[in-house]
Amino acid sequence: MKAIVIQTNQPGQPLAWQETAAPNYGADEVLVDIYTTALNRADLSQRAGHYPPPPGASTILGLEMAGKITAVGAQVSGWRVGDRVCGLLAGGGYAEQINLSQQLLIPMPNHWSYEQAAAMPEVFLTAYVNLFMEANLQVGETVLIHGGAGGVGTAAIQLAREAGCRVFVTVGTADKAARCLELGAELAVNYKEQDFVAAISEHVGSPQAVDVILDMVGADYLPRNLSLLKLRGRIVFIATMGGGKVEIDIRQLMGRRLRLIGSVLRSRSLEEKITIKENFMRQFWPKLVDGVIHPIIDVVYPIEQANEAHQHMADNRNIGKIILRVREG
Ligand SMILES: NC(=O)c1ccc[n+]([C@@H]2O[C@H](COP(=O)([O-])OP(=O)(O)OC[C@H]3O[C@@H](n4cnc5c(N)ncnc54)[C@H](OP(=O)(O)O)[C@@H]3O)[C@@H](O)[C@H]2O)c1
Repeated sequence: MKAIVIQTNQPGQPLAWQETAAPNYGADEVLVDIYTTALNRADLSQRAGHYPPPPGASTILGLEMAGKITAVGAQVSGWRVGDRVCGLLAGGGYAEQINLSQQLLIPMPNHWSYEQAAAMPEVFLTAYVNLFMEANLQVGETVLIHGGAGGVGTAAIQLAREAGCRVFVTVGTADKAARCLELGAELAVNYKEQDFVAAISEHVGSPQAVDVILDMVGADYLPRNLSLLKLRGRIVFIATMGGGKVEIDIRQLMGRRLRLIGSVLRSRSLEEKITIKENFMRQFWPKLVDGVIHPIIDVVYPIEQANEAHQHMADNRNIGKIILRVREG
């Protein structure tokens, strides 16, 4: 089969769609013909040599896919050859085929395209686990989502909106702000033009204005994020795009009983990923099937243009997901 493999000793290498060994599948797994996959920032980091795959994961790029089952293991039940599915991967999505545990499979709603299905798993499960399982976001709470127009941000806005929360976001352009407002954000602050702390405090009418912050900026934002939190506020860190080291005054945490939470999805155990998927499906799947919540697609590239797709993300041009089409369907 063809795939895009990353050699860990060659940082920044061009992405080449080339022949490699096809995957095997276990008794509890299915084999899927991949039709689409999607980009994640982690792919750019892995390619740059900063984010090696966890032990045992494929060296092929790609954390999610959508496709059709072509074979099932001896212990698989409830899934058949020909079923259209999507799923979260620890690697291996930029490929013609993938093996995946039956328990991680998500059925594709009939009216979904493969592009829509590949845009869903990584960012919706990331938004879900961090807002609801890690930060324990509750009905009526306020949430600040940084990177609001990105893949994770556009998923998080919709989930928080449907959970009955007030949503504020930060974004870097007016177009991104407009899209976030359409998706249900109440306030979108262009951080290049306005101080987000001042804008949100003024909007809410209090300096301590939010219960939960979904943060991917890290050090650059931490002092400002802390100043915005209400009593018992929580920050979940999912990336450090603005640096990982910063000094804080611990007394600030104690006085307002704040909680700082670090979180990754990719290196969690299979059991944890299954629990996250099942909780997410129980709480939100009907709304995805009904189209109340939907994956946001920015652009679709053929897999042969993966280099251009990566540049699109590196330039922060996307609103929602960048899709790679592996085969027509
Ligand atoms: N921990 C986990 O399990 C996990 C899982 C999935 C993703 N992530 C991470 O979460 C982050 C968001 O993922 P994504 O898929 O939404 O990525 P994305 O689609 O590329 O969106 C991220 C957005 O963040 C903004 N941004 C970039 N650099 C920034 C900076 N230094 N300061 C402020 N904003 C910045 C950009 O938009 P603007 O133009 O608005 O600045 C960019 O479009 C990534 O870093 C990703 O690696 C973590």
